[in-house]
Amino acid sequence: MKILIYLVVFFQLFNSFTANRVTDSLIQDACKKASKYGEPHYYEFCIACISENPESQKVRNIDELTILGVKIAISNMTNLKEVVEKILEERNYKSKLSGKLLRDCIKLYSEGNNSLTKSLEYIKSRKYKKFHTSIDRAKTIPRVCEMGFNDDNKQKSPVKKDNDVLYDILDMAQSFNLDAHLQPTM
Ligand SMILES: *[C@@H]1O[C@H](CO)[C@@H](O)[C@H](O)[C@H]1NC(C)=O
Ligand SMILES: *[C@@H]1O[C@H](CO)[C@@H](O)[C@H](O)[C@H]1NC(C)=O
Repeated sequence: MKILIYLVVFFQLFNSFTANRVTDSLIQDACKKASKYGEPHYYEFCIACISENPESQKVRNIDELTILGVKIAISNMTNLKEVVEKILEERNYKSKLSGKLLRDCIKLYSEGNNSLTKSLEYIKSRKYKKFHTSIDRAKTIPRVCEMGFNDDNKQKSPVKKDNDVLYDILDMAQSFNLDAHLQPTM
């Protein structure tokens, strides 16, 4: 009886161990492909960004990984929106114009949220091209938010780094899908 319990425990451990290894190699493989054209730090960024999310060990295929990437982007953007709201509440900005630009960014983040929610529906119904397009739309959000500051306004964005990170997360999720479903036929 005792030996049977040992065996059962052993096989359960073994199974979850193997499953985790499959997941780890799925993540490494997807990040490697996604970083093919990126900067050298991109691979480490990709691995860290996915692995620090507890859901990542449940991922079993590339679509689930892509969905996780989008969910990470949604939560990052939601945090970022709260950061900007706090800056506005505390009037922690340099000029009236900066304040206006930050309020524009908040509107943009809400729009981006709609694109990302749509993109989740697309990938769940295997509409990979539509997924790609809706992520394209979301990727313009952090860029347009920054553009207001950089154009000829000479204002300094307090969230430049966060917008850059958000862009990279979106780019990562888009690359997972691109490499798995679109690139071979393009
Ligand atoms: C995005 O939508 C989710 C779910 O509706 C919401 O909880 C979140 O606050 C939204 N984030 C942004 C940036 O609008
Ligand atoms: C977005 O995610 C990155 C990487 O995980 C993190 O460093 C950054 O603080 C996040 N941004 C916000 C506003 O939470």
